[in-house]
Amino acid sequence: MTAERWSPESWRKRPIEQVPVYTDQAALADVERQLAGFPPLVFAGEARKLKKQLARVAAGEAFLLQGGDCAESFAEHSADNIRDFLRVFLQMAVVMTFAAASPVVKVGRIAGQFAKPRSAPTEKRGGLELPSYRGDIVNDAAFTPEARIPDPRRQLEAYRQSAATLNLLRAFATGGYANLENAHRWMLGFVNDTPQSGRYQEIANRISETLGFMRAIGLDAEQHPELRQTDFYTSHEVLLLGYEQALTRIDSTTGDPYLTSGHLVWIGDRTRQPDHAHVEFCRGIKNPIGVKCGPSLKPDALLELLDILDPQNEPGRITLIGRFGADKIGDHLPALLRAVKKSGRTPVWSIDPMHGNTITAAGYKTRPFDKIMSEIRSFFAIHRAEGTYAGGVHLEMTGKNVTECMGGARALSEADLAESYDTACDPRLNAEQSIEVAFLVAELLKTERQARATPAVDAAE
Ligand code: PEP
Ligand code: CO
Repeated sequence: MTAERWSPESWRKRPIEQVPVYTDQAALADVERQLAGFPPLVFAGEARKLKKQLARVAAGEAFLLQGGDCAESFAEHSADNIRDFLRVFLQMAVVMTFAAASPVVKVGRIAGQFAKPRSAPTEKRGGLELPSYRGDIVNDAAFTPEARIPDPRRQLEAYRQSAATLNLLRAFATGGYANLENAHRWMLGFVNDTPQSGRYQEIANRISETLGFMRAIGLDAEQHPELRQTDFYTSHEVLLLGYEQALTRIDSTTGDPYLTSGHLVWIGDRTRQPDHAHVEFCRGIKNPIGVKCGPSLKPDALLELLDILDPQNEPGRITLIGRFGADKIGDHLPALLRAVKKSGRTPVWSIDPMHGNTITAAGYKTRPFDKIMSEIRSFFAIHRAEGTYAGGVHLEMTGKNVTECMGGARALSEADLAESYDTACDPRLNAEQSIEVAFLVAELLKTERQARATPAVDAAE
């Protein structure tokens, strides 16, 4: 099966899940033709650099922070939203880097995270049944027959928005905004009187002191680009394969195919069948690849996937993103860790504590913050017990002060959800809850590092 030759369109011969039904095939073909002629959004060299950094994560030398909207939306596209997201993301990274003394690899769910898999192809409200909303790149969320018709021209709009978002992210990442000297300024506009802001302020003070010390001994930011700018990468779920095929290009320096719609893409929990289209497409592109691992994934099936997607066992190629639920992780993760370890592979192991902890309360899809925290804690504890490295977190989050997940320092309740429930799809951590997660991760990472630095006392002593 996998011995067949790969090409950017070889997925078209495989069975496929989660495809929108486009009624106007000529219009779809025309859009894909246009996309195929557009400039790449990201470059092969950048994807290779990310792969190298992920190889460091796999080796236990760095930590992966991946996060952003469940689904980006056309209506919410603004400079303020992007800046607010990046600001919280940088704050989280600083908390982890500084508190845990660990380099953090930063990957946003952004600049391309538009297509959504759905648990049912249609949605019923009252007597009306319409196609499900599949993300702004496919159709519109409004519950009317016209809005729900998949429109291929939305792919051009998603490309345009991704390009504009990336342009701003690149400016922020390299143009001074991400300078560590700004760690204090990232506080501005953020709720200032919370327990998290106090803890963050302390870290920002320590960073200022450290930078002051470095300047005093003659090391300054002007000579050290790593203090002034940061590497920020983009990622999304690889779902709408016609769009992804159109943005696949041959890298001129290596002759290899790269997907240029984002640096890293992941295969969703609903589209990871080894003989189906999404896995076929991903096996041929050279980008780093993520795989969501839900409770239904058996160890043998995971090993089969790894053989297909990473036959060379290449460092940094694969990031496995568990999403079991706080009450299920203990039943599923250990067997996967053992099987993969025994096979001699060292992928990055990351945890998505969002998708296994979704419930409905007061008519809203929400996630209890304590379940999110609990799944993260279990993730670290299980890795410790199995002798493997807990390498990353994968979060649905926003820089805005939304009320979508319950709990956190402000103890958002069911009744608070209605206040600011803005997500285009799943409930996200708000800015404050995101920082709270960052402090927990920093603490767990620090404990793990200390444990590794202090080997257990030898039984013979
Ligand atoms: C997602 O990450 O938004 C998602 C749909 O996740 P999963 O495939 O794990 O359900
Ligand atoms: Co989601």
